[in-house]
Amino acid sequence: MIYGQELIDELYQKRILPKDKLIALLQAQNPELDAYLFSISQRIAIEQFGRRIYTRGLIEFTNYCKNNCYYCGIRRDNRHVQRYRLTTEQILNCCRQGYQLGFRTFVLQGGEDPYFTDQRMEEIIRQIKGEFPDCALTLSIGEKSRDSYQRLFDAGANRYLLRHETANDAHYAQLHPPELSLANRKRCLWDLKAIGYQVGCGFMVGSPGQTPETLAEDLLFIHELAPQMIGIGPFLHHQQTPFAQQPDGSMELTLFLIGLLRLMIPNALIPSTTALATIHPRGRELGILAGANVVMPNLSPTDVRAQYTLYDNKACTGEEAAESWAQLQKQMHSIGYCLAVDRGDFKPEVHGTQQK
Ligand code: 5AD
Repeated sequence: MIYGQELIDELYQKRILPKDKLIALLQAQNPELDAYLFSISQRIAIEQFGRRIYTRGLIEFTNYCKNNCYYCGIRRDNRHVQRYRLTTEQILNCCRQGYQLGFRTFVLQGGEDPYFTDQRMEEIIRQIKGEFPDCALTLSIGEKSRDSYQRLFDAGANRYLLRHETANDAHYAQLHPPELSLANRKRCLWDLKAIGYQVGCGFMVGSPGQTPETLAEDLLFIHELAPQMIGIGPFLHHQQTPFAQQPDGSMELTLFLIGLLRLMIPNALIPSTTALATIHPRGRELGILAGANVVMPNLSPTDVRAQYTLYDNKACTGEEAAESWAQLQKQMHSIGYCLAVDRGDFKPEVHGTQQK
């Protein structure tokens, strides 16, 4: 028996642990404990989803942002970014290409760009849902009023990604300027849930100021929110941000957290993120083997991708959508999985086959 195993077993049974035990578990992370955790988290993911990996076509449709988050490369004060907005027709073209390849979920992600008013977003959403009625549409466009979220939902959006970034107020203030607050971020997430979106939260692993204690608070918050999706990836520095000199997060801890989250919410949709693929050549595959079940390749036009750099050396800036599907399929095959042509909605938990 290795130290930490009992904590993992207890987390698996109870879905959550008291904060002190979560901290102890996070501090116990080592390769041996990883192997034990992943043997369980991978089995759970296969029980829930088979060896099928859901795909989401990511469309980064604007890199204008009114916020000034200290970690993010497209923050307002970064004068070195060439800003762009895609037209509705360009967005639809991304969807058309993606649909041909097998994508059945499109994710519209952007900075908080005031140009895209509720009215403009409603129009884009209606057009996408009109042309692709069998696809799910996910938004990832930041903090809004409940009323705005409702309008976008009524226009046809199905899901919303909004990472909480950290569930600790003081840590939140280390990552964001004073006009942004954890309280409002949480308000957004609860509003989105109440409206009926499938909701995703998440955080960066190894962000400046993060500790085992703040990570334990992240896990407690995620347990409380019970989101359908959870996105995590390592913090990666960006040279034109206040965090340029900060060390990058660790892949090992990111994978460990993916495993823990899979135990906590067996049917959660958990992507193996681009940040993970950036930090290690096999990061994407290792994320799947730790319990992730989603990949989100980029469908944005190749000529704007370099402008959507949240962090340095972001992976996949060159490939066309078709290449990236084929390459991902190859990566998945190499570990015994395959890409699914499926909306990949959140589903109730699969019971009965567990061999605990
Ligand atoms: N490193 C890693 N992830 C980042 N994000 C933003 N900047 C960085 C960075 N420097 C993540 C944030 C955000 C998501 C869209 O990208 O968590 O919510």
